This record gives sequence, C-alpha cells and structure tokens, in this order.
Amino acid sequence: MSVAWVTGASSGIGEALALRLARDGRRVVASARGAQALDALAAASDGSVAPLPLDVCDADACARAVAAIEEREGEIGLAVLNAGTHVPMSASDFSVATLQRLAEVNLFGVANCVEPLLARMAARRRGHLAIVASVAGYGGLPTAAAYGPTKAALINMAESLKLDCDRLGIRLQLVDPGFVRTPLTDRNEFPMPFLMPVDEAVDAFVAGLASDRFEIVFPRRFALLLKLLNLLPYPAYFALVRRMTGA
Ligand SMILES: NC(=O)c1ccc[n+]([C@@H]2O[C@H](COP(=O)([O-])OP(=O)(O)OC[C@H]3O[C@@H](n4cnc5c(N)ncnc54)[C@H](OP(=O)(O)O)[C@@H]3O)[C@@H](O)[C@H]2O)c1
Repeated sequence: MSVAWVTGASSGIGEALALRLARDGRRVVASARGAQALDALAAASDGSVAPLPLDVCDADACARAVAAIEEREGEIGLAVLNAGTHVPMSASDFSVATLQRLAEVNLFGVANCVEPLLARMAARRRGHLAIVASVAGYGGLPTAAAYGPTKAALINMAESLKLDCDRLGIRLQLVDPGFVRTPLTDRNEFPMPFLMPVDEAVDAFVAGLASDRFEIVFPRRFALLLKLLNLLPYPAYFALVRRMTGA
C-alpha cells in the first residue's frame, strides 16, 4: 500500500489519525515542527509511523519533504493536510499580524504542500488529498475574525480545485471538523456545542476518507446546523449567533 502523509501530526486530530492509519496497516509519515512529539508517536506506533519534522510555512521545506518521502518511502498515495492553529481575534484586539500568522500556517501552509503534491499526483494521474479546514469557515463567528477567513479560504480553494482534480484522476476531499477535544480547543474559554472526543472524530475521519464524499464533517449534526444557519438572511443569522454564543 502507498504511504500516507499527515501534517500537524504531533498532537490532536493529526496525531490520533496518524496512529489509526498505522494501526490499520498503512505506512505513515508524520510531520509537524515538534520533533520530540513525532519521535514519541513513532515509538507508540512500533515504527510504522516515520517522523519527518517540518514547518509548513517554509515552502521550500515542504517541496523537499514531499521529494524526500517519495524517495525514502515510495509514492504518497494519501496526504492529509491538517497542520493548523487557532488564535482568537475580535474587534477589540484586531491585528493584521495575527491574521497574517494564521494565514501563513492555515492557508499558505496547506498550499505549500498542495503545490508539490499536485504536480506529482497529476503526473501519475492518481492520488488522494484531504484538506482540513473547519466548520468555522462556513460563515463569520465571534472571535474568529482571523481563524475563520483562513478556513473559509481553504474551503473555497478545495471547491475550486475539485473538478480539476477529478479530471486529473486525483481524489480531493475537504474535511470540516466541528469542535473536537484537542490541545487547540483546550484553550477555548467559551462553550463548545457537540464537543467530540478525538477518537470518535478519527473514526468519522477514517470512514470519510474511505467514502466517495467530497466533504467529511464531524460531528454531523453541528455541521448541518451551521450550514442551515448560513442559509438564513443576515438579521436572523446574527440574532441566532448572538443567542448561541452570547456575543
Ligand atoms: N479541534 C477542533 O475542534 C478543530 C475544529 C475544526 C478544525 N480543526 C482543525 O484541525 C486541525 C488539527 O487541529 P487540532 O485540534 O488537532 O490542533 P492541535 O492539537 O493544536 O494540532 C495542530 C497540529 O498542527 C501542527 N502545526 C502547527 N503549526 C505548524 C507549522 N507551522 N508547521 C507544521 N505543523 C504545524 C502542530 O504541531 P507543532 O506545533 O509541533 O508544529 C500540531 O501537530 C487544524 O487545522 C485545525 O484548525 C480543529
């Protein structure tokens, strides 16, 4: 079986997914900046996860990583572009620097990996890309003035690439998690409806990867609720968001 590459695999969803794919018999390469955490993951997987430290903000390093994985481990059959981070931002602490930092990691960090992967996958007319965005990209939400736009951009980018990828023989999927208990959400001080344990999230993630759905969402009820919310006229949308978040 071809190798799976998971970015953002030193904690949370990426770490749990890398371990699950390895336990399911797949050879996995795990990337993040934290080399120690990746080594611990490799040890926990009895060697079926290979660590490859990487900062996804470094475009050249991403291109080199893709080349190195294919040289050492063989063809990347599945790439899960999951590295991301969250910093709350509202009107009272609006900062271009925060927006730039999140865009660098969440949006350009994914794009830096997509470019070398698409080139190789298109050339061989096969491959599977999963881009991790968020339900926070569906519409604007309080405190998400920096995070939300980066995830909205990823959703739009994946939608834009979908039909091209179909034509090129590449399976492209968009992953939109709701709230999953990870170090990222442990920092949140607001109530998180439908908060899901990471193992359940990974069950849904793996099932989604095996399906022919374009979008993988979990928990489903929360994603559906937010999709419906975004169909409403703005006065109703803002009234409901205010009621749900207390903003
Ligand atoms: N948890 C949720 O409720 C939720 C909801 C919607 C979407 N998501 C998305 O799901 C993905 C995973 O989130 P999580 O909750 O599992 O968060 P997490 O536990 O904080 O994990 C984030 C991962 O991304 C890596 N990362 C951050 N910056 C990086 C960089 N510059 N280069 C390479 N790796 C980097 C981190 O490792 P290092 O710090 O070691 O680099 C870590 O492995 C993110 O894209 C997040 O936006 C999560």
